[in-house]
Amino acid sequence: MKTLGLFAFQGLALALLGSAPAARAADYVDLRRIEPVQGDAAAGAEKAATLCFTCHGANGVSPVPLFPNLAGQHADYLYQELLRYKSGTLPESPMTALVQPLEDADLRNLAVHYAGLALDVPPPAAAAEPAILDRGGTLYRDGDPARGVPPCQGCHGADAKGHVLAASEASRDTQYRTYPLLYGQQAQYVATRLRDYRSGKLVHTSNDFIMRDVASRLDDASIDAIAAWLAALPAPR
Ligand code: HEC
Ligand code: HEC
Repeated sequence: MKTLGLFAFQGLALALLGSAPAARAADYVDLRRIEPVQGDAAAGAEKAATLCFTCHGANGVSPVPLFPNLAGQHADYLYQELLRYKSGTLPESPMTALVQPLEDADLRNLAVHYAGLALDVPPPAAAAEPAILDRGGTLYRDGDPARGVPPCQGCHGADAKGHVLAASEASRDTQYRTYPLLYGQQAQYVATRLRDYRSGKLVHTSNDFIMRDVASRLDDASIDAIAAWLAALPAPR
């Protein structure tokens, strides 16, 4: 009887497995098991010098607060983002048309090139109010338990330079290099992305679901405070 029960259970589990992943596979990209990205940084630098520098800066630090810095970002994260512009799962932007003609090898090379640049970001020209920066820093470090906001540092690093497991060589940990660095990131870009997660525009990867839940708990003032604090991080103390 017991064995029969177990078989029946396995049969049910298999039936569920048989249908569910197939249906889900089409719905979102699972980033929990991916191959580390490899590429030719010199070839990437050459492409970047003609195609990317006007918006992302010659050294990967953007001249405009709405355009993200790319310098020192994880290659695995950058590559996944580039793939997403190509497949159209990020909101339409200047990036969408730009990456269409690029080959997969170009995307890898560009990702490796930007990842290798020094994360040498200057603080923003105009600093936010101290009270706003304080609120942003508190949310980043401690979250807001009353509203279910988790501490951002748990996944983006105490210094906002990435997940603590991102440096691990173990293949199961490659996923943590798809958790982006936020240190010194452009405020307007960060705020826009957080609102994109919150409004449900980004629901195409296993990582999107993590951030969608986080952002759904943030109000506008909190989003702007965290964005201002992250952008101001490179300021001398
Ligand atoms: C005309 C301006 C422009 C050019 C040129 C441009 N980008 Fe972008 N890029 C943007 C903007 C704006 C965003 C921000 C988000 C959005 O609107 O999609 C962005 C976002 C990105 C992101 C996502 C970063 C993140 O943190 O998620 C990557 C990666 C990127 N660009 C790489 C490149 C590469 C590589 C090139 C050259 C092949 C390039 N960009 C050229 C404007 C540009
Ligand atoms: C449980 C882990 C986790 C927590 C906690 C978390 N994040 Fe994230 N975050 C991620 C992952 C994974 C991504 C990549 C999402 C993707 O690829 O769509 C991400 C992406 C982001 C991005 C997009 C960056 C870019 O360059 O486009 C921002 C901004 C961000 N998170 C801010 C925050 C803030 C602010 C908090 C705290 C309120 C937070 N995150 C908490 C895991 C987390």
